[in-house]
Amino acid sequence: MSASPWPALKALAAQQGSLRQAFAADPARANRFRTTACGISLDYSKNLIDDSSWQALQQLAGASKIQPVLQAMLAGNKVNNTEQRAVWHMMLRKTDVSGLALDGDDIGAAIADCRQRMTALVSRLHQGEYTGYSGKAITDVIWVGIGGSLLGPQMAVEALTPYHCSPVKLHFAGNIDGAVVSDVVKQLDPATTLVFVASKSFGTEETKQNALALRQWFKDHGADADAIARHFWATSSNIKAAAEFGIVEQNILPMWDWVGGRYSLWSAIGLPVALMIGNDNFAQLLKGAEAMDQHFIHAPQAENMPLTLALLGIWYINGFGCQAQALLPYSHYLRLLPSYVQQLDMESNGKSVDINGQPLTDATAPVIWGDAGTNGQHAYHQLLHQSALAVPADFILPLTPAHPLTDHHQRLAAHCFAQTQALMQGKTLQEATAECLAAGMTAEQAAALAPHKVSPGNKPSNTLLLPELSPYYVGALIALYEHKVFCQGVLWGLNSFDQWGVELGKQLSGPIYQALAGGDASLLDSSTQALIKAFLQQKNQ
Ligand code: F6P
Repeated sequence: MSASPWPALKALAAQQGSLRQAFAADPARANRFRTTACGISLDYSKNLIDDSSWQALQQLAGASKIQPVLQAMLAGNKVNNTEQRAVWHMMLRKTDVSGLALDGDDIGAAIADCRQRMTALVSRLHQGEYTGYSGKAITDVIWVGIGGSLLGPQMAVEALTPYHCSPVKLHFAGNIDGAVVSDVVKQLDPATTLVFVASKSFGTEETKQNALALRQWFKDHGADADAIARHFWATSSNIKAAAEFGIVEQNILPMWDWVGGRYSLWSAIGLPVALMIGNDNFAQLLKGAEAMDQHFIHAPQAENMPLTLALLGIWYINGFGCQAQALLPYSHYLRLLPSYVQQLDMESNGKSVDINGQPLTDATAPVIWGDAGTNGQHAYHQLLHQSALAVPADFILPLTPAHPLTDHHQRLAAHCFAQTQALMQGKTLQEATAECLAAGMTAEQAAALAPHKVSPGNKPSNTLLLPELSPYYVGALIALYEHKVFCQGVLWGLNSFDQWGVELGKQLSGPIYQALAGGDASLLDSSTQALIKAFLQQKNQ
């Protein structure tokens, strides 16, 4: 077994100097620690790295299994070893899918057929040619799903708001909180509503319950089995379960076991995106992701953007012991990106054993969090600037605004860049004192206030600049984070494509649900019993 690289990283991390000094000593630093891919640029100069630490990280990557695992993944090997599945979501965004085959199946033909069916459905809906059971055209689509079957389309639909061109309205329904479906149907008429049940497994409790509630809503409005068959669609790999639910085969779009839920935006799970931005723009989203795939596969290691982000993440987690990573899009439309990357990163790499089931010796995925700038500046940035907690941050800014308020955009950009600068350089006691004195304070007043104004600085950040928030760049951006997560998974030696940890809670909820319905709770722990009792007391009042 090879020695763990983390002690050496920790030792190197302890030697890193001041970023302020590094910039002062080297005016070319921003040029040296910068890379571009597919039109997106990454400035990583405001990171706690110098030539020797960056070289050590590059060596770590060079000696890693990233290349062999990537090649195995592209070849269709079952790199998701615990589920014995290939990992082929990259194939879904290939322009040319001809000849793609896996285990004797013509995957290229299957992808092309799925794309053609999605395109036809979107066109029908856009042109008002899809009529419901009463003969009226469909005006609303409800997309029912959760996790990877919802977060991706919801985020991308939001990100591409300026491209919306659909006469049909879209509503998302995730979560088993009945408030969601109850609220959605309030505005709608079943006669003009189409329901999409998006579930790879078609066994996820939340999605099933919401689909059942919606089916009942149709029935309550007098819809018979034929009407329901006309109004319900599914995207699933479990055709049998979807059919048992009452969804006719021609209304089931495929999912494949070689697409993980959190990597499924590029499949028929992306249908809401195609619906809202149109087929051509959806094709551009795929193209952007494909371009990032090509960059990731072919760019030299030192220029490879996903690998660069991955190494920096590893550096902070395993070198500095950071446990969190902020994702701060300076774009209102990208405000769901942190939630999306949360699932992508934390469900992929939040693991405690390696690919062979052996305990991991060090921490893996960080806690991903964030929201749109500048809102966060008036909330949690205080902690980023002055707390002892170190939280590396990714700042993301589209350079061209998707609105006419150009001065707003200039101010937004100024805040974005100022935050990275403030985190990096901080404010010394001397500077804070001078500021207080310049504001007219006495020396005594300045001495009392200045310590509160000090910011330690030396807080790392990346800045990603997108030319604009178009389908192409959004596709490339999402693929960038996918590949980052992949590289980190390989560097940690774990399987990024399973998620066994989510099972325990699901298993335990069954007996608790029974107990809440009056079943035996005596075998449960005393805390859980007390919680059940409180629920039942209220329910039975
Ligand atoms: O519970 C986790 C999970 O399996 C995710 O990985 C997945 O994206 C989500 O649930 C939804 O699964 P499905 O598409 O099978 O309903």
